[in-house]
This record gives sequence, structure tokens and C-alpha cells, in this order.
Amino acid sequence: MTYTNLLIDNKDHIRVITINRPDQLNALNRETIAQMDDALNAADKDASVRVLIITGSGAKAFVAGADIKEFADFSTADGKALSADGHAKLFTHVERMTKPVIAAVNGFALGGGLELAMSCHFRIASETARMGLPEVTLGVIPGYGGTQRLPQLVGKGKAMEMIFTGGMINSADALQWGLVNQVVPAEQLLSTCMELAGKIARNSPTALGAAIRAVNAGYEHGGNGMEREIEEFGKCFGTPDFVEGTTAFMEKRKVEFKGE
Ligand code: COA
Repeated sequence: MTYTNLLIDNKDHIRVITINRPDQLNALNRETIAQMDDALNAADKDASVRVLIITGSGAKAFVAGADIKEFADFSTADGKALSADGHAKLFTHVERMTKPVIAAVNGFALGGGLELAMSCHFRIASETARMGLPEVTLGVIPGYGGTQRLPQLVGKGKAMEMIFTGGMINSADALQWGLVNQVVPAEQLLSTCMELAGKIARNSPTALGAAIRAVNAGYEHGGNGMEREIEEFGKCFGTPDFVEGTTAFMEKRKVEFKGE
């Protein structure tokens, strides 16, 4: 697929996916969501990729939401399909990636933009970032996971306040509320994410995948996190990465995981 709305950069084992519609503040239209779906599948299959970073193009926005111009005349059925399609192709897809995905929140992360950041496994924000779920100001509710993932991250009360007011919070509040893990000056955002991604990329890819599945299980409807942890923990013992990790420790040498 040709990515007209994405930029893909690779360095070492890290792939940076940049949503690239800066003149529309990187709003998520149907085309961009389809391209993200394809790019996530490609990253999943590519053994050289161990960590992903998702960010937005330009200094102003991470992603300013779903593309309002595209859905303004939608019917009830269209709205439901838009939400379901977005969940499957992008938001749940990102959350279930078995390679760690970091959101580098470089500016406005509104509506679907904040929902995308929340689907990532964790978030680092620039001091200039602004976050909110303004959907009720448009007469809709967050439809890309916001009603579920925001309470998981900040608690029900703060999530309700953000969803009801539709207002934006700054990076300092987002940090205090637990919505982002770290806030850095804008010019250090990507290097901070690359450094973190580099540390993660040295660890066992199979163990990272297992950790993501185990953590996610506790948040999934009908999922049993503890049972999944026991299952995933056990499976690790049958992997070459486990043999390499424990052998390297005992031989007091540098570990080299192959991700098998
Ligand atoms: N969907 C479609 N287009 C969007 C968009 C969105 N979610 N967010 C921004 N854009 C477009 C604007 O329409 C404008 O395009 P135009 O030049 O063709 O008219 C361009 O991006 C620049 O945005 P603009 O509004 O002129 O910038 P601003 O600095 O005045 O305001 C925001 C920035 C983020 C406050 C404002 O763009 C905004 O409120 N966007 C919508 C946020 C939202 O409600 N998201 C949730 C959607 S469910």
C-alpha cells in the first residue's frame, strides 16, 4: 500500500509512524485509518521492528480527532459502522499489538487523537500538548474507545469531567492525572521516546508480547488477567529468548535476543 498520509522511519529496531496531514491537524479520515491498519500489520510481520512510536506531523497537532468533515452527514447506521471499523482497524489494533507502541504526543490530541494516544501502550507528551475529548460539543460521544480507556487511566470521576466538559487539559495536568508518563520540551520529545524505545528494544520480544497480552487481559471484558499471566509466564519457558536470557545471565555475558 502507498502511504499518502503516513511517514515511516526506521532506526535500529524502532519504527516511527508519523500521521502526516498537517494542514488538517492530522485528523483521522477513512484513508488514514486504512493506511494505519496496513502499517500496523506490516510492523507486526517485520521481525526487524521491535518497538513502535506513533506521532503527528508538524508542531501543532498529534491528531486533532476523527475527520469531522467526513462524518458530518452520517446516519445512525453509518455512525455505528464508523466506530466499529475504527476500533478494529486502528484503536484495538494498536492496543493488541504484541510489540510495544509508544505515543509521542506532540500537540493537540483531541477526540480520536487522544483515543489513539490512549490505545498506545504508554504516552510521552511535549510541554505544548493539549488533550481532551470534545465529542459532546459536537453532539456525539467518544466512539474510538475513549469512554473505556480514559477511566482506566485517570479514574472514573476525572474521565467523566473531561468527557462532560469537552475541555482540554495541558501536559502538566495530564502528567498529574496519570494520562501521560512523562512531559518533555517539544524539541526533546522524539529523542526521549527513541531512548525509551531503545531500552525496550534490548529486551526479549517474545516476553514483551506476552507481557502486553497479560496486562491487556485484565482490561478486557470477560478476560481473566491472573489466569492469562500464569499461562503467558509458563509459555515463556518454552522460548529460545528464555534460554538466551537465562544463559547470558549465568555466563555473565551480554544478552542477544532474537525474538523467537
Ligand atoms: N476534522 C477535520 N478537520 C479538522 C479537524 C478535525 N477533527 N481538526 C482540525 N481540522 C482542520 C480545520 O478544519 C482546518 O482546516 P481548513 O483550513 O481546511 O478549514 C485545519 O484543520 C486547521 O484547523 P483550525 O481549526 O483552523 O486551527 P485552530 O488553530 O484555529 O484550532 C483546534 C485548532 C484543534 C482547536 C481546532 O481545529 C478544533 O477544535 N478541531 C476539532 C477538534 C475536535 O472536535 N475533535 C474531535 C473530533 S470527534
